[in-house]
Amino acid sequence: MYRPHTTCRACGYAFHGAGGNRNPNEKLVSVFNLGVQPLANDFCKSGQERQGYAPLEVLFCEKCRLAQLSVVVKPEVLYKNYAYVTSDSETMRKHFAALVSDLTAEQPAGPVVEIGSNNGALLKHLRAEGFINSVGIEPAENLAREANADGVLTINDYLDSESAAKAKADCGGKVSFVLARHCFCHADSWVKMIDGFEALADKDTLIAIEVPYLPDQIANVSFDQCYHEHLSYLSLSAMAALLEDSVLRMHKVIKYPIHGGCVLIMLRPLNSGRDPHPSVEQFMGQENITADTWREFAAEAHAQIHKLGLLIKSLRDAGKTVCGYGASAKSTVWVNACKFSRKDISFITDTTKGKWHTTSPGTDIPITDPGALLRELPDYCILFAWNFASEILAKESLYREKGGKFIIPVPHIKIV
Ligand code: TMP
Ligand code: ZN
Repeated sequence: MYRPHTTCRACGYAFHGAGGNRNPNEKLVSVFNLGVQPLANDFCKSGQERQGYAPLEVLFCEKCRLAQLSVVVKPEVLYKNYAYVTSDSETMRKHFAALVSDLTAEQPAGPVVEIGSNNGALLKHLRAEGFINSVGIEPAENLAREANADGVLTINDYLDSESAAKAKADCGGKVSFVLARHCFCHADSWVKMIDGFEALADKDTLIAIEVPYLPDQIANVSFDQCYHEHLSYLSLSAMAALLEDSVLRMHKVIKYPIHGGCVLIMLRPLNSGRDPHPSVEQFMGQENITADTWREFAAEAHAQIHKLGLLIKSLRDAGKTVCGYGASAKSTVWVNACKFSRKDISFITDTTKGKWHTTSPGTDIPITDPGALLRELPDYCILFAWNFASEILAKESLYREKGGKFIIPVPHIKIV
């Protein structure tokens, strides 16, 4: 189901001990280890076979500062039938509006190819904003089917030069924008990914890659963003190392608050005739992430895991009931790191229908519809979807009026 990955995905340096070091003094070092963990989105109904477990360990490249997992779980296992659906939340709609405004500030709306287009939510939004001729490339069969049925043209594939050529043709032969939201760091082969970008782009194409902003992830100690799908934890210096041999360069960097802090890294071909925006240098200068930064993050993460474990134990000992909110990949990481079971957390609610009547990966905790919060009125609710905190706290004001309390685990465990 998985295999070790011991060379740096961005610059090619090798894990010490493995063959093929370009320079034996440079190496990948282990900086964070959660042990063997279940696959984060492996939500299964009773009788369905679980996909299983794999080591969850982060290695850091001292040469280019890329952090990446020590193993790669087969993509067919993770994505053939993918449970994660882009949320139709107010927070997400605001984010899409900001993206449209920043993309069209660069150049007029035009044909767009979205990589990892999920259920087509962003492409639908873009279409309404005048981006006609759009095509998605989405590896999950269930999501590509759903998007096509919904009228969003979607190729069921991974990005490589072949799927890129097909998407470009479907777009009418010229692509103005290539978007890749939260899929770049899911890809094992960045060579294929860059080949795909190069096949899609001509000199006027803008490529926009949205990834978590690593300094925010570190500052928030959001270790719950470390799971098997997130193969890489991308710094801008690692991006620069990756692009060195390609015809693409960073053009502009824009930061957004979504998902606890993200950046949109815009790329343009070397022959675009446009100078890079000063934001590239600014963001590169601001991030100073070393192996020690990661080691401190790891120590703090283990302290937070210990703290939440103790808090829930003390609440349960006092006879209080506890549930969870948002059966996201993040909830799987927390639940298993804290070794929670149904005795600790009675259920986790989620808006995604496909997750109802499943259990949380690695545990017996049932996933329910969001209505369970008011029906059951547990004393405490752990907000695993902390990245939507303000929207959810407002939406669930009745629960709070009835005495329910939220435990927000990130950036630091807090009861509201
Ligand atoms: P994400 O942080 O990976 O996008 O996952 C958020 C999860 O939380 C996702 O499974 C949907 C769920 N969710 C709710 O249950 N209620 C909500 O109001 C929102 C915004 C998300
Ligand atoms: Zn490297």
